[in-house]
Amino acid sequence: MLVHKTNYSLLHHNSFGLDVRSKEFVEYGSVAELQQFIKSKDPHKPLFHIGGGNNLLFTKDYDGIILHSSIKGIELKEDTTESVLLCVGAAEIWDEVVAYTVSNGYFGLENLSLIPSETGAAAVQNIGAYGAEAKDFIETVEVVELSTGKVQQFKNTECNFSYRYSNFKGPWKGQYAVTHVTLRLNKTFVPNIAYGALAQICTPDMDAQALREAIINVRQNKLPNPEVLGNAGSFFMNPVVSKEIYEKVAKDYPSVPHYEVEGGVKIPAGWLIEQCGWKGKALGRAAVYEKQALVLVNLGHATPEEIMNLSDRVCKDVKKNFGIEIHPEVNWI
Ligand code: EPU
Repeated sequence: MLVHKTNYSLLHHNSFGLDVRSKEFVEYGSVAELQQFIKSKDPHKPLFHIGGGNNLLFTKDYDGIILHSSIKGIELKEDTTESVLLCVGAAEIWDEVVAYTVSNGYFGLENLSLIPSETGAAAVQNIGAYGAEAKDFIETVEVVELSTGKVQQFKNTECNFSYRYSNFKGPWKGQYAVTHVTLRLNKTFVPNIAYGALAQICTPDMDAQALREAIINVRQNKLPNPEVLGNAGSFFMNPVVSKEIYEKVAKDYPSVPHYEVEGGVKIPAGWLIEQCGWKGKALGRAAVYEKQALVLVNLGHATPEEIMNLSDRVCKDVKKNFGIEIHPEVNWI
């Protein structure tokens, strides 16, 4: 059944834990229900589709309709000796999907353990961690076009995935609701442990469950649990700078962490923010997390303005000290 609420608190739909409201809130549990909603909706009302709300910053109350899927289910669509295809409902909790795959002998998602996300949003923003990205496993993305109700399917290559990006965040923004994500997973386990922080704690003979547990451990030690301390994971993207800018930074800080990438050198924003002295600092009820400077946290009852103000101050300081612009990774609504 379609759920329709008015003047609805989004407190439990944003991991920052901001007590903002939406004029209307609609939740659908199937493609047919979504199509029914599309038929009846007023095209002039602003509409925004959310997933788990783990990567959002509501800057104020939302004067329109917040749309949310409750489509669940994991369906085995193809099973060969090498791999499987799983069709996953957009509202499935990502980490529950990872747990399911590991315990059924379908491999690949281990490094993406414990990322707070629903599966639809995992595709929209190409979640990633510890040397893996969702795009490495996505075969197709099933959607409904919001203007017509038409069911469509996009192949991986059509989605134009890159670092925390897909066409759903770019040219297709607001046009589609992701209803299912189809993943291709391997039946043979090959541990992916090249990422810096993992190389030190993982061994090539680990099984998938042990690797998953190691990843969970690293995350729990570094990243705040949104149920305890409101946050949206990495608040900023890691900037890619020119070789010249990198060399300027490296002259003053020879040990600056960096990775050569297409188009230049990636410098971790967390490192830049820490050098500016912001790690663990608070402005009002918003703070830079004490164990990972890339994460902004709500110390309790923070307002959107307090988070925005802190973000602004941090960006300005990084620009002033390093001449580098950093940009939020989190979606501002
Ligand atoms: N660093 C610092 N100070 C800090 C934080 C990091 O000096 O406060 C340094 C670390 O010492 C390390 C480097 O920065 O040398 C990289 O740190 P880390 O491995 O923790 O990763 P990150 O670049 O800060 C990214 C992702 C995370 C993901 C981790 C692990 C982005 C924006 N963030 O963070 O993703 O979990 O790598 O793969 O790319 C998220 O998207 O919400 C998220 C948490």
